[in-house]
Formats: sequence, structure tokens, C-alpha cells
Amino acid sequence: MMGLSCREVIRKRRSIRKFDSRPVSADLLEEIIEAARLAPSGTNRQPWRFILLKSEKEKGKIAGIVIQPFVLEAPAVFVCCVDRNSFTRRMVGKRLKELVDTNVVSQESADFLSQRNIPERVEEVITPSSAYLDLGIAVEHMVLQATALGLGSCWVRLFNTRQMHKALGLPEEIEVVALLPVGYPAHSPPLRPRLNRDDIIIEPDN
Ligand SMILES: Cc1cc2nc3c(=O)[nH]c(=O)nc-3n(C[C@H](O)[C@H](O)[C@H](O)COP(=O)(O)O)c2cc1C
Repeated sequence: MMGLSCREVIRKRRSIRKFDSRPVSADLLEEIIEAARLAPSGTNRQPWRFILLKSEKEKGKIAGIVIQPFVLEAPAVFVCCVDRNSFTRRMVGKRLKELVDTNVVSQESADFLSQRNIPERVEEVITPSSAYLDLGIAVEHMVLQATALGLGSCWVRLFNTRQMHKALGLPEEIEVVALLPVGYPAHSPPLRPRLNRDDIIIEPDN
């Protein structure tokens, strides 16, 4: 069977806030993880990390922290995080070397990039804004892949990230950014309000 085109997936996607109780197969969840894995990122740093909560016991850990109950009604919840380790000199160097070895970046550019002020120790890393761009791209890849598989999802940021970090017992360098509940949609909402084309295009000065 032919899958949906990119255009069709983009048009079909909605934030889904009601889920069927039907579980999502491990294969489909793996496809969603693969969509994140293949996302682009600055200097190929791939700072995204995910915790997948499926059982009632696993989801129960975040029960007191999510504000919107629909999140826990989803059969699978991805906790989407940034790993600050990705921004240490050692990890940046490793990723840069891969790019040089695969002829993506020249040795000169890699040398130039490594001259920047890159922290040695993870404790010194202040998460750069590009980390959130990188994670955002990966999560939206997951959202679109889920849609293409007939699943629904919803970006969720409405929770206290520090409390979430604590409830999951995560290491210091892992920063929780968003949740992505995933499941079979139990509603099919219409297109939500959007700005017009001319509201989002700023014409360059002539
Ligand atoms: C970064 C981000 C954070 C969001 N956080 C929440 C949230 O905490 N709770 C929620 O119900 N929806 C959340 N949403 C979903 C938006 O409300 C939704 O995308 C918007 O209203 C447009 O609707 P649509 O996604 O169905 O097109 C979030 C979306 C994004 C991109």
C-alpha cells in the first residue's frame, strides 16, 4: 500500500488529545524513534534523548506532574530531553571527526569550529538555544511519522520540568523539555486556526 505523501501527512496532522485504549505495537514505536534518530542537528550533535513510558507503572511516575489528564491516557508517552553531554568538547570533537571522516566538513572548518569556547566538563555546559532547535526538529519528525502511521500525538510543555526530572530520577545532564503522548486518535479535530500566508511572510525591502 502506498503511504501518504509528505503534503498529505502535514495536512492530516493535528494535536490529538483523546486516545483509544488500543496499545501501539513495539514496531510502530520503533519507527517513531527511528524518525527522531534521522533528524538533522547543528554540527550533527544529536542532543535528543527519549524516555518511553508505556506501562501504568511507568506512566504513574509522572502522574502527579502532568497537568492535562489526556497525556496519561495515551498508551505511550515519550519524555523528550536534551543531553548536555552533547555540548562538551569531547562530544563535539567526536561528532566533528565523524563529519571530517565522511567528507562533510573540511579539516580546516573542523579546526575553526573547535577553536570556539567549548566547555570541557558537562557541569560547565549552558544548554545552547540550538539544542532546543535540534530537539524540536527530532520531535516534529516523530509527530509526522506517527501521523503517517495512523497514530496521533500532541506536543506537551505544560508541566514543571524540574519536577519531571526528579520524578524520573534522571541524571543531572539530562534536561526534560517536552512530552509527546502517542496513541490511536479517538477524535478527528478540524484544522485549528492559522495565520494567513501574508501574515507570515515579511517582504524584503526593495
Ligand atoms: C512546543 C509546543 C508545546 C505545546 N504544548 C502543549 C501543551 O502543553 N498542551 C497541549 O494541550 N497542547 C500543546 N501544544 C499543542 C498546541 O496547542 C497546538 O499545536 C496548536 O494549538 C495548533 O493545533 P494543531 O497542532 O492541532 O494544529 C504544544 C505545541 C507545541 C509546538
